[in-house]
Amino acid sequence: MYPEEAMMQGAVFGVPEEFDSHGGQSFSDAQLRQLLEKAEYEDALFRAADRKRREIYGDKVYIRGLIEFTNYCKNNCYYCGIRRDNKNAVRYRLTKQEILACCAEGYQLGFRTFVLQGGEDPYYTDALLCDIVSDIRTRYPDCAITLSVGEKPKESYRAYFEAGANRYLLRHETANSAHYGKLHPESMCLQRRKQCLFDLKDIGYQVGSGFMVGSPYQTMDNIVEDIRFLQTLQPDMIGIGPYITHKETPFSSFENGSLALTLRLIAVLRLMFPYALIPATTALGTIHPQGRELGLKAGANVVMPNLSPVGVRELYALYENKICTGEEAAQCRGCLERRVRSAGYRIVTAIGDAATRVSRPAQPS
Ligand code: 5AD
Ligand code: FES
Repeated sequence: MYPEEAMMQGAVFGVPEEFDSHGGQSFSDAQLRQLLEKAEYEDALFRAADRKRREIYGDKVYIRGLIEFTNYCKNNCYYCGIRRDNKNAVRYRLTKQEILACCAEGYQLGFRTFVLQGGEDPYYTDALLCDIVSDIRTRYPDCAITLSVGEKPKESYRAYFEAGANRYLLRHETANSAHYGKLHPESMCLQRRKQCLFDLKDIGYQVGSGFMVGSPYQTMDNIVEDIRFLQTLQPDMIGIGPYITHKETPFSSFENGSLALTLRLIAVLRLMFPYALIPATTALGTIHPQGRELGLKAGANVVMPNLSPVGVRELYALYENKICTGEEAAQCRGCLERRVRSAGYRIVTAIGDAATRVSRPAQPS
């Protein structure tokens, strides 16, 4: 057997397969590099990931209704189109009534998770956010409320939780401090980002983290570090998508991240975090017309269509050429239904928590 084949056997099919205490497959750094860098393992990798995903989640795909409620941001991340210094961005904020209208439409369409995402916008004080969250909670007791509003003090996270939020998305972006420093201005630091994630977990949120694939200056070593950090954090959700350039940022001359590497990473994450909720992201659908379908086939099990009012969708431009900005929510829902079915899966109307330890099958021996 060629050494590469032996490596693939060991890495993908497991001779012997090793699992961590969370049921995830263990890979050495060298195995990870092989799986991520080499095209020849791809088919075997995607097959193994799909098998694992079907074992835990069957053919179910969960949908999350994304409500992008503000594109004001006090931060200045070098990669992001809604950064503070982008003076050409046309800014908007949704009122509580507008947000509630998005939820009402989403509920009708079968959404049982609402994701309120925005820039770090001080206009939405803790009191205002709590008021919005508790109104949604009262109206939709059977739904999950996910917040994605960046770094906050632990007390604020606790207040939102007590108001009824139960999930939080905060990508760590990169687990390497030096790389973090290249993506963000000095006012931001990796340590604080990590602290926020552990605070959120401690409060009791289901936590989602993740990173961009192919962000400027990212190395394969950084990606391995990202995976190791995720193993420490053990998030319920892991969101990854390709970096996509925005011309009104300091990174305007950098290339987009690669489809192939993103798909391989999704598959590796599925094997290492078999219970995780992994979205086929909008960024993935933006760099390739079938990006999200390919993501599902590589092990993703969540899609997050947009519920924001059509009038503001183009304005929430973290990156360029974002898809689905012209579609009404109902059109998006129908389109995704077809796309998911064409990939061989099925959208379910369910709250869609991560498989819990109780429901988890015994560890493979
Ligand atoms: N390309 C791809 N993803 C981006 N994000 C921000 N800017 C970009 C970009 N230019 C991602 C970040 C952030 C999430 C909301 O969107 O990872 O956490
Ligand atoms: Fe929105 Fe296809 S998912 S139009």
